[in-house]
Amino acid sequence: MDIKVVWAGGAWQQCHREARMGAQSVTVACGALILFLTLTGATNPGFVVRITQAGLDYAHQQGIAVLKKELAQLKLPDFSGDFRIKVLGKVRYEISRLDLSGFQLPHSRISLVPNVGLKVSISNAYAKVNGNWRVKLLFIRDHGSFDVRVENVYVNINLKLGNDASGKPTIGTPYCSTRISNVRVRFSGRLGWLYNLFHKAIESKFRKILEGKVCDIVVKSVHSKLQPYVQTLPVTARIDAIAGVDYSLVAPPTATAQSLDVALKGEFFSLAHRSAVPFPPLALALPPDHDRMVYFGASSYFFNTAGFAYHAAGALVFEITDSMISNGVDFRLDTTTFSAFVPQLEEMYPDLRMKFRLSTPSAPFLNIGPGGLSLKPVVDIQAYAILPNSSLAPLFLLSLTGNVSAVINVNSGHIVGSLKMGRMKLSLKHSDVGTFQVESLQSIMNFFASSILLPRLNARLAQGFPLPMPKGIQLSNILVRFHQNFLLLGADVRSQPQG
Ligand SMILES: *[C@@H]1O[C@H](CO)[C@@H](O)[C@H](O)[C@H]1NC(C)=O
Ligand SMILES: *[C@@H]1O[C@H](CO)[C@@H](O)[C@H](O)[C@H]1NC(C)=O
Repeated sequence: MDIKVVWAGGAWQQCHREARMGAQSVTVACGALILFLTLTGATNPGFVVRITQAGLDYAHQQGIAVLKKELAQLKLPDFSGDFRIKVLGKVRYEISRLDLSGFQLPHSRISLVPNVGLKVSISNAYAKVNGNWRVKLLFIRDHGSFDVRVENVYVNINLKLGNDASGKPTIGTPYCSTRISNVRVRFSGRLGWLYNLFHKAIESKFRKILEGKVCDIVVKSVHSKLQPYVQTLPVTARIDAIAGVDYSLVAPPTATAQSLDVALKGEFFSLAHRSAVPFPPLALALPPDHDRMVYFGASSYFFNTAGFAYHAAGALVFEITDSMISNGVDFRLDTTTFSAFVPQLEEMYPDLRMKFRLSTPSAPFLNIGPGGLSLKPVVDIQAYAILPNSSLAPLFLLSLTGNVSAVINVNSGHIVGSLKMGRMKLSLKHSDVGTFQVESLQSIMNFFASSILLPRLNARLAQGFPLPMPKGIQLSNILVRFHQNFLLLGADVRSQPQG
């Protein structure tokens, strides 16, 4: 049986129809098919990289230098032929030791071809070739050297961009053509009249040989230089000991008249145990901006999978102990201080050090809208008294909720952030020591959150998370904008000076 997938809806109907016929194997195949469709067809990216024409112009400068080097290594074969001259008869010539002294590529461009990919066009390129000649005509034999000027070389090559099974980008070369409109051979030697008789034949041979070779070498360079280079782009990046981020391509890059858009998974995962993310990425509609070289669209999915991964890995737990309270503050984290708010402590746990354990009951979830990025974290705060034998006596469990806003920037190729706390609200979830006035703890908890928790969290966020970029690239002229469900970063690109 052959199920042809033309479009998802049709396949779905086909599956239902087949499934009703009752064949179990068919149902299984349908299940796999539907799974396949949900895995591939319907995946929104969590992260989009957009390269504009300005970005391609930059890439072009780098790429053309490489191409020039490759073309300089072009080897031309020896060739020979016969040429008939009226009355005198057959001339045999041999051309050898051809040496191309490199191509000059004064005009070239990488441009976008909507729905196809990219086009590299080279025009008015020129080169010089030196070599040896040898001729035989009746009793005449002669040899010498010559040079050829090859001018008006036009090369057009299409690059088709795709993605392989591991989510790495691929580059194909479905089309290449070379046209050379001017080849001029200049012989040095005494028998100028003789060579002039067959220079046209030699020139057209040169043109044919070169036209074939140039595309060969361009296509080879794409496969041996460009393809391995794009394959070095990190599709998964380790962030720290806890999490990594998956930047694999979820679809082939798409070219429009304005830009090349690369849709990436943009999903954080726990290194110890990657689990399925329980929420889908929303569609991400980048605005048509194209004045920066590159744009990154980071969806709320991207950030929320980070929260999910760190939460699932048990990394969002934080303890506040007495040693963290700076010396300038005139209270200690102990039951003596806290009996001012929870009077029972004085009698139940006199004169003991305390400890707070902060954790997130569920993964923190953030929202991105035109107004910015905001979080409404819920933090559980469990208070303990530390007993003389070091075991912990639970005192009470508080819930802290509130509004946190974030400032986002880009630094050294990383998305960095810093959080700012708004008003926080405290409530009592459970008490092991009886009732007390929770509100009285509000300002001391605000102090803990703003002077102990937040600076540490911000220190981590300042290290940031790596953007999907090749090594040795620096971003400048950064733009940060918020849109519904995603953050847009724009930047110009330049190579890092070699240190
Ligand atoms: C520590 O002391 C408390 C009370 O004195 C006791 O209930 C607890 O079992 C002790 N824990 C350990 C680990 O000895
Ligand atoms: C958080 O912001 C929302 C509006 O966005 C507001 O209704 C709520 O009261 C704020 N919470 C606190 C604790 O200030």
